[in-house]
Amino acid sequence: MLHLAKRLEPLQSNVFADMDQAKARARAAGQDLIDLSLGSSDLPAPAHVLDAIAQSLPDPSTHGYLLFHGTQSFRQAAAHWYQQKFGIAVDPETEVLPLIGSQEGTAHLPLAILNPGDFALLLDPGYPSHAGGVYLAGGQIYPMPLLAENNFLPKLDEIPTPVLAQSKLMILSYPHNPTTAIAPLSFFQEAVAFCQQHHIILIHDFPYADLYFEGTAPPSILQADPEKSISIELFTMSKSYNMGGFRVGYAIGNAQLIRALRQVKATVDFNQYRGILNGAIAALSGSQTGVQTAVHTFRQRRDAFIQGLQQIGWSVPCPTATMYIWAKLPEPWTQNSIAFCTQLVEATGVAAAPGAGFGKAGEGYVRFALVHEPEILERAIARMASFVKA
Ligand SMILES: Cc1ncc(COP(=O)(O)O)c(C=O)c1O
Repeated sequence: MLHLAKRLEPLQSNVFADMDQAKARARAAGQDLIDLSLGSSDLPAPAHVLDAIAQSLPDPSTHGYLLFHGTQSFRQAAAHWYQQKFGIAVDPETEVLPLIGSQEGTAHLPLAILNPGDFALLLDPGYPSHAGGVYLAGGQIYPMPLLAENNFLPKLDEIPTPVLAQSKLMILSYPHNPTTAIAPLSFFQEAVAFCQQHHIILIHDFPYADLYFEGTAPPSILQADPEKSISIELFTMSKSYNMGGFRVGYAIGNAQLIRALRQVKATVDFNQYRGILNGAIAALSGSQTGVQTAVHTFRQRRDAFIQGLQQIGWSVPCPTATMYIWAKLPEPWTQNSIAFCTQLVEATGVAAAPGAGFGKAGEGYVRFALVHEPEILERAIARMASFVKA
């Protein structure tokens, strides 16, 4: 028996690994799987992005290591995108850093911020890499529960004073996976003032910036902290441009935090492949019709799914953002999302993500990812109908 590091221990209980096993059992038993458990878009990356990558491939200047902080043209494209979208001036040299996806940024930033034992304030439920990064850095987690009655926003004044005194980091992420909530700019302003007052660094994980269905664009944290005094935001090409498999995103914000994250990354990786950065530049600077198509597609799927659930007697609020449905579980599963999901996939082949997998406060909910066409979603609903009634 090898003696591995203790820091792996909190990473071992992973509900999603259990779900993978349940899916494998369902497949082995002959179920035709409809997998709604993962937020991996089924839509294609835009053609002009693929062209940019294809043109880069035969060019030997793209084949070597990409040291330091990526290419200047990538940093400029990211800074320009922020300027255009949010009216925030960004220095491409000191305030932008390419990432191998926003998950990478959330997992590496705590290493640059936390000393062992420091607290990080995380959303509960929240995206698993937020907690994983804190554990790898030897930090402690204070989960901020997100409740429907508070519009899935944390109550900052409920964080105990002793925890606050030891807190170095807060991670927010809106539009929110899994609850689909959007945070208004006023909440971000409150969070920035709170973190400034308590000397806490604020990370905002922002993958669903473009996936909203109504009203104005969800705010950037930098709109609430335009001086970038304490904040850093992580954006990804995975959702807006259906490029999850390409692994590319970027951090933007406070120059000291960008430099610190770069120090960590300089030890760990040599950046994303230059050709993929060229694809990301094409995504950020080229036609945005693919983004509009994705939004239109996810809106149609959302409507079909919500309507279908309604027809089988499962009433769920209609989300205004993201690619998910966050559904409160009916009796008898109101406190057992894992049993619901494992039994559902084994009985019907429909795979969903149990709310408990995103944190304690996610218990009682299930998340469906809208990663199939409406006909398949309708088939999933039809299969769930008998299961839910039974
Ligand atoms: C909140 C959140 N952060 C990060 C990620 C991962 O993004 P990326 O593909 O950029 O690593 C996801 C993916 O679903 C997410 O929902």
